[in-house]
Amino acid sequence: MSEAKYKRVLLKLSGEALAGESKTGVNAETVGKICDKIKEIIEMGVEVGIVVGGGNFWRGRNGHQMERTTADYMGMLATAMNGLALQDALEARGVYSRLQTAIEIKEIAEPFIIRKAEKHLQKGRVVIFACGTGHPYFTTDTAAVLRATEIDADIILLGKAIDAVYSADPKIDENAKKYDEISYLEVLEKDLKVMDSTATALCRDNKMPLLVFGIADPENIVRAVKGEKIGTLVK
Ligand code: GTP
Repeated sequence: MSEAKYKRVLLKLSGEALAGESKTGVNAETVGKICDKIKEIIEMGVEVGIVVGGGNFWRGRNGHQMERTTADYMGMLATAMNGLALQDALEARGVYSRLQTAIEIKEIAEPFIIRKAEKHLQKGRVVIFACGTGHPYFTTDTAAVLRATEIDADIILLGKAIDAVYSADPKIDENAKKYDEISYLEVLEKDLKVMDSTATALCRDNKMPLLVFGIADPENIVRAVKGEKIGTLVK
């Protein structure tokens, strides 16, 4: 039935990926296009967990004289809003999903319970993990690696605004080299800013492969799952 290379994936979507042209908030068309592709990979038999960011609603550390913990908790709430938007758009397409939050908001979503998440995944439901790790000082990239490890995903699909990992910012440096494949050690040593160092180290320690690809074209989600050569594989 499946042309998929992977049985179970953890898709990391930044908040910005949901904002599209609007830059902030949730753009229904953009979210719809992403969810169409999630539906396609579910129909290919792939089990899908999603960790979603919150930067389209709230960027904690940009110019706010605020306690870091407060700013981070606000960011976690932002991810819960994105989780609801994703769940709504998936269900509008007939894709079963469950939203689990790392901080209890029981009236709105299930609390994160790994054994329930496992059961949902086995039943073909998309599990959206919101509120990051539930702790300040950790990014949603770190949450993605943590959840990927917990659900024993085959790979993390990291959808980014940029289409791959480069040796320098290709917008600034025209000699920037695109990597097809790179090791975690190199990412850390060269400080390539694929993810923050906590997330990268967690990936490396758990031998969790990571594919960085451009989310501007949501078809890339399907290409990634089929194992086509897109983006950069970090392993
Ligand atoms: P099964 O065990 O396969 O039946 O899983 P299920 O998720 O369908 O069962 P459950 O009875 O746990 O959930 C039914 C519905 O209630 C689902 O849409 C869940 O997402 C939702 N739900 C479960 N627990 C909570 C919770 O603590 N808070 C909220 N808001 N919804 C919940």
